[in-house]
Amino acid sequence: MEKRIQQLQEEALSALDQAADLKTLQDIRVSILGKKGALTDVMKGMRELSAEQRPRIGSLVNTLKDQFEQSFSQRQEELQQLAIAEKLASEKIDVTLPGRRQVAGSHHPITLVTREICDIFSRLGFSAEEGPEIEKDFFNFEALNIPKDHPARDMQDTFYIQDELVLRTHTSPVQVRTMLKQAPPIRIIAPGTVYRRDSDLTHSPMFHQVEGLLVDENVTFGDLKGVLIHFLNEYFGADLGVRFRPSFFPFTEPSAEVDIACVICGGKGCRVCGGTGWLEILGCGMVDPAVFDSVHYDAEKYSGFAFGMGLERIAMLKYGVNDLRLFFENDLRFLKQF
Ligand code: PHE
Repeated sequence: MEKRIQQLQEEALSALDQAADLKTLQDIRVSILGKKGALTDVMKGMRELSAEQRPRIGSLVNTLKDQFEQSFSQRQEELQQLAIAEKLASEKIDVTLPGRRQVAGSHHPITLVTREICDIFSRLGFSAEEGPEIEKDFFNFEALNIPKDHPARDMQDTFYIQDELVLRTHTSPVQVRTMLKQAPPIRIIAPGTVYRRDSDLTHSPMFHQVEGLLVDENVTFGDLKGVLIHFLNEYFGADLGVRFRPSFFPFTEPSAEVDIACVICGGKGCRVCGGTGWLEILGCGMVDPAVFDSVHYDAEKYSGFAFGMGLERIAMLKYGVNDLRLFFENDLRFLKQF
């Protein structure tokens, strides 16, 4: 029995010494002192010893137990320190490394154009208005002097949601909504998204417009020209060529389209302006008395002008972008440039 104890002592202590981690250490403890442990076994065997032998063996066992506990605690302490040191080493932070930068976003070119145009008009006393993109037939067409059989309503142009509900095809319904809730004088600018059943290289089914409306007493076509020429010079440059061409819109009379001298060739004629030297940039005209009738304004007392322009086209000319689709693809390499 003494031999067994001695052997156990050697084994146990050297096992503790070699234990490389806390889990192994615990396992060793269980194998010695646990219910089925080797030392527990020895102690069970003591029942069979004679009365003379028992004290001597008992004291040997106790010594071994004490020694084991002591070595165990010591080794446990060592391993715990080691674990902490390892953790510290592996989680070390090099504070001299360069940090990760926060990437700054930028505004979409259409947002930039919208803001700049609204800024110019707000300096002229125009305030911004908004309207819904899902619009009643009445506001999008009827009140704008576009009756049910007008070609502009052709199924090819308009997205119908229901019989009397469309995706607005222009921002002009905001004119009607504003005049119905407000009496003259009126000076508004209305940016927004519009929709048409049109999709090819130069048309997108969703695009953006800015609408303008001014109504007061004694407003003339001269006022219209003055305001628009001022705007175009502010936006594209003071020496920009501008011309007004007769045109037609159901909701304005007379109507005009405005061209600017080609920003690419300066008016000499190139591929972009189709050799004419001019680029069409917006539609405008004096508010048709029929529109005043539908919003119950006195057409004898008041006159006004309205205009509308496509923002993608203006952004293309302003920033020299040659493909409409770039505005909708959300390619960061494109958007980052603004
Ligand atoms: N709403 C017209 C369009 O979408 C533009 C326009 C607005 C013309 C106001 C005249 C007056 O083409």
